[in-house]
Amino acid sequence: MNIVILAAGQGKRMHSNLPKVLHQVAGKALVSHVIDAARSLTPQTICLVYGHGGDALRTSIDAPDLVWVLQEPQLGTGHAVQQAMPHLAAAPTTLVLYGDVPLIQPATLQALVHAARDALAILTVELAEPSGYGRIVRDSAGEVVRIVEQKDASAAERAIREVNSGIVALPTVRLAEWLAALSNDNAQQEYYLTDVVGMAVAAGVPIRTVPAQGEWEVLGVNSKVQLAELERVAQRRTAERLMEQGVRLADPARLDVRGELVCGRDVFIDVNCVFEGRVLLDEAVEIGPCCVLKNASIGAGSRLAAFSHIEDATVGPDGVIGPFARLRPGTELAAGVHVGNFVELKNAKVAAQSKANHLAYVGDAIIGSRVNIGAGTITCNYDGANKFKTIIEDDVFIGSDTQLVAPVTVGRGATLGAGTTLTRDAPPDTLTLSRVRQVSLAGWKRPQKPKK
Ligand code: UD1
Ligand code: CA
Repeated sequence: MNIVILAAGQGKRMHSNLPKVLHQVAGKALVSHVIDAARSLTPQTICLVYGHGGDALRTSIDAPDLVWVLQEPQLGTGHAVQQAMPHLAAAPTTLVLYGDVPLIQPATLQALVHAARDALAILTVELAEPSGYGRIVRDSAGEVVRIVEQKDASAAERAIREVNSGIVALPTVRLAEWLAALSNDNAQQEYYLTDVVGMAVAAGVPIRTVPAQGEWEVLGVNSKVQLAELERVAQRRTAERLMEQGVRLADPARLDVRGELVCGRDVFIDVNCVFEGRVLLDEAVEIGPCCVLKNASIGAGSRLAAFSHIEDATVGPDGVIGPFARLRPGTELAAGVHVGNFVELKNAKVAAQSKANHLAYVGDAIIGSRVNIGAGTITCNYDGANKFKTIIEDDVFIGSDTQLVAPVTVGRGATLGAGTTLTRDAPPDTLTLSRVRQVSLAGWKRPQKPKK
């Protein structure tokens, strides 16, 4: 089959410089949702009909398999499909999708394409409020005779609640004939794709309708209000799918997945968490409220407390993270690592059972096992121009408020006294201190303000 995706409309009501179909639902451009659904059917050709923002579209959509077709000017949906015709394969069926209808499901499209063998198949939906849509007009025997657009419809036709989703599948050879015969003699002076239905009836080609799974599946985006509505629909569906797989959500209405979230059994996610990119939560992971995870992997049994922020990082099993922990790109924590409040790690590999529980910055570092990093410890990894590495070997104890001026190595089993500024390597199994010896000056007086 061929698939034609219509995306030439301007989207004026979005009031945006971004082409309409590049606005995102669930972290992915509207048109990318449609392209993914199209690809799932493994068609011979996917043709994208665009009109506005061609450069922006090409740079944003990674789709070497697409045939790009410019429609300029935009003279209606029939005219749009006409532009694609010369680029289509000699496949029996052509499926027309809309670039701004993102939640269309592969299973529905399969049913539609199946219904279109030697027929014209229309994806329809019954709406309580059908205003604005093309209506499906049937004869007394219940057979479809044509589609009438809202602006061309009589009062009786406007009362019809069965509407055209716009998504149709039809025989390619017939489509070419019918498109050539379209006229724009209608209220909007456009070439309507919907007029091919009347032509198919006249030619004796059967018309079949396939119902959408629900109104949500065929809803298009014309405004930011509709964009937000579809975002909620997409999130609710993701939340339901996760719960059906055994994830416990504190509130399915307060979860945002903007990418792919893969969960093991007995995962719990508290309210207002955001997941971006690809995130893996292994068995029995617990995510506290208001956490943000982007391209992250969390090992079995790990717990993330509230407000933890994790990006391009890996947490091993049985980790204890947060509240208010920040794991930046390149952080890899082994099993049983604890990272507490206001601790920031970047490009740091931390071996098993090590702990940094309070107020620390650990960047460009390799930390061994069973290391304890005291409150206020900082790896001074940056001299203003270059970055340097800090190595802390197994069983080291770093006292509070220590600065490790990289490049520097702390040997296995070493202890650094609180307040140390370490500028040279610390030997193993030894206490290293750099602070000034404490003195108490008898008779010392605080400075006084001069008396007037
Ligand atoms: C169209 C259908 C209507 C259906 C409705 C569903 C026609 C004549 N009408 O109406 O029966 O109920 O969709 O939403 O087909 N587009 C182009 N080039 C154009 C015009 C449109 O690519 O010249 C694209 C738009 O970007 C959009 C889609 O086609 O993705 C539909 O266009 P739109 O103007 O929204 O169609 P409607 O008038 O709403
Ligand atoms: Ca529309």
